[in-house]
Amino acid sequence: MMKCDQWGDQEVITHYGYPLYVYEESVIERQIHILEEALTDFELFYSFKANPNLHICEFMNRQGVGADTASSNEVLKAVKAGFSKENILYSSPGKTEEDIEKTIDHAIIVADSYNELILINKICSRKGIRLPIGIRINPAHSITSEDALEIMGGTPSKFGVDEESLLAHKEFIENLSHIEIIGIHVYIGSQMLNYHTVYDNIQSIFAMGEFCITQMKWNLSFIDFGGGFGVPYLPDEEPLDLRALKPMVQELVAKQKIVTKKRVRLIVESGRFLVTEAGRFLTKIVDIKVSRGKKFLIIHGGMNGFFRPVFMNLLHAVSISYGEGIKQEKEEELVSVGGHLCTPIDMVAKDILLPKAQIGDILCIRSAGSYGYTMSLREFIDHRQAKEIYIDKQGSCMITGGVGDDFR
Ligand SMILES: Cc1ncc(COP(=O)(O)O)c(C=O)c1O
Repeated sequence: MMKCDQWGDQEVITHYGYPLYVYEESVIERQIHILEEALTDFELFYSFKANPNLHICEFMNRQGVGADTASSNEVLKAVKAGFSKENILYSSPGKTEEDIEKTIDHAIIVADSYNELILINKICSRKGIRLPIGIRINPAHSITSEDALEIMGGTPSKFGVDEESLLAHKEFIENLSHIEIIGIHVYIGSQMLNYHTVYDNIQSIFAMGEFCITQMKWNLSFIDFGGGFGVPYLPDEEPLDLRALKPMVQELVAKQKIVTKKRVRLIVESGRFLVTEAGRFLTKIVDIKVSRGKKFLIIHGGMNGFFRPVFMNLLHAVSISYGEGIKQEKEEELVSVGGHLCTPIDMVAKDILLPKAQIGDILCIRSAGSYGYTMSLREFIDHRQAKEIYIDKQGSCMITGGVGDDFR
């Protein structure tokens, strides 16, 4: 296999064309170690949705990380990547009977609503089994938009069942004789950069676990605390201080009856922390124009290449720079970067400072390893689509891509 870990962006593009995602296994390994080292009492699960590239999923499995999946196809991909049933959690709203049938033998299913409990119970009754499952709880504690980028709990939410509603449903759940609740899953939000928020979240989920054991009388064997571990997207953003978090969480865990009395699996899940920095998006500037005094760089592949900055309005949160191997102009200018799609919403960055560019220069968006390839509108307006290049730890390069289509 070809070695390409020493290649600059120009060489990668010359060899593989553009647009391109480039993923580096060595960076993923580094990130796994950082998180595992900070949370020594927890099992780490990888959230496939961040980047379901099969090579990445297989690497996670080889590293002993579990699979956090959110569709029946992701469950099947986890099986293909080698994960065992006890290390695949399947949690998402809106599971159908077909989803449950497809995954029942391959994953621990986490029910997302009271209706879903009835559905799973019905399927298990037909099969004549009693199935251990988890349930996703929408916690009563909340966080603010300064604490996380995407808040998914602690508010009225489409995810899980409200914590306050549990006791009133105790008998209802007990009457579902073909299921047994053995785990809880909570996910409050993504992109937390404040370690106090992460700590508070873990602390209140421990209390919730205690409640489920003592009040709901569930024999819990796992608690999935979610995660939300953030990454800095810009040089001036402070990274999550995992060094400060570590002793606080260790002390907290040591005090939990759940942990000291009975060995409950403590799980955290992470997507972006593990893969964001491992990926970059490379493309070329195909046109440059000035319109009414404003300069626009037009790139091949905006929302059809890397949609997230457009969709999330994260224009400020994307780091854009010129690739190594390209002559660097010292002089900077204010520009907006747009994709080549014939729609005004295809703007990747507005009014940012970049070194002076020419048509044909390479534009590199860093921290593009999560929510990139599969989240983008790749077929919209039918341009040449991005490829994915995976560089393993030995520095060997391989083209991957379209792997999300395997189970369609
Ligand atoms: C339930 C759940 N788990 C895990 C994740 C992964 O989040 P992140 O990539 O920020 O770690 C998400 C993101 O939406 C989620 O909804």
